[in-house]
Amino acid sequence: HSLAVLISGSGSNLQALIDAIEHQGLPARIDLVLSNRADAGGLARAKSAGLATAVIDHRDHDSRESFDQAMVDRLAPLAPDTVVLAGFMRILTPVFVRAFSDRLLNIHPSLLPKYPGLHTHRRALDAGDSQHGCSIHFVTEELDGGPLIAQAPVPVLPNDHEETLSKRVQQAEHRLYPDVVRWRAERRLFLTANGVQLDDRLL
Ligand code: GRF
Repeated sequence: HSLAVLISGSGSNLQALIDAIEHQGLPARIDLVLSNRADAGGLARAKSAGLATAVIDHRDHDSRESFDQAMVDRLAPLAPDTVVLAGFMRILTPVFVRAFSDRLLNIHPSLLPKYPGLHTHRRALDAGDSQHGCSIHFVTEELDGGPLIAQAPVPVLPNDHEETLSKRVQQAEHRLYPDVVRWRAERRLFLTANGVQLDDRLL
C-alpha cells in the first residue's frame, strides 16, 4: 500500500507512521514526504528514515489552485493508494481534493464536529470541556468537514493549559493514525457513495 504524506511542521505523526511501518508491521510504504515548507522538522525525520522528500513552497504560487496543481503534478505519477495529511497546514482547493477524493485522509486535533480550524486546544479549554481529542476523516471540499473515520478522546485535566493538553492529544494522534492507515493498507476502509465503510459496516 503506497502512501504520500504531506506535512508542514515537526512531523511527529509522520514519525508515528514510520515507526509503525518499521516496528509494528504496518503493511505500507511511504513513497514521498511532501512539505510546503523547506524548514519543516518532518523533512529531517523523513530523510533519516531514507524516504524521498519534496518541497513545494506555497509562496512560489500566486493562487491556492496553482499551488495545489503543482502538488497534484508531483503526486499523481506516484499513484498513491492513500494520501495522508499529517499536520499539513494549508487549506486545499477542489483542484487537490478532487484528484485524490476517495483516498485523502486528515487528522485534526479536536473531536469534530467541534472546533474545526485553528487553536482547538485553547477553544476546548475556554469552553470548559471535560473531554477533547482528535479525529481522522476523509477530506472533502469542506474544511475539516469530511466524513469521520475514527476519534480518540482524551480527558481535560483540572490544571491543563494549551501545552499539556495538546501533548495529550498528540499522543492519542500517534496511536490513532497508524491504526487508520493500517485499515487502509489492509483494504478494509473505503469512502463509498454511501459513506465511510470499514469492513462490512457503514460508519
Ligand atoms: C497535529 O496536532 C495535527 O492534528 C495538527 O497539526 C499537528 C501536527 O503535528 N493538524 P506533527 O507535525 O505531526 O508533529
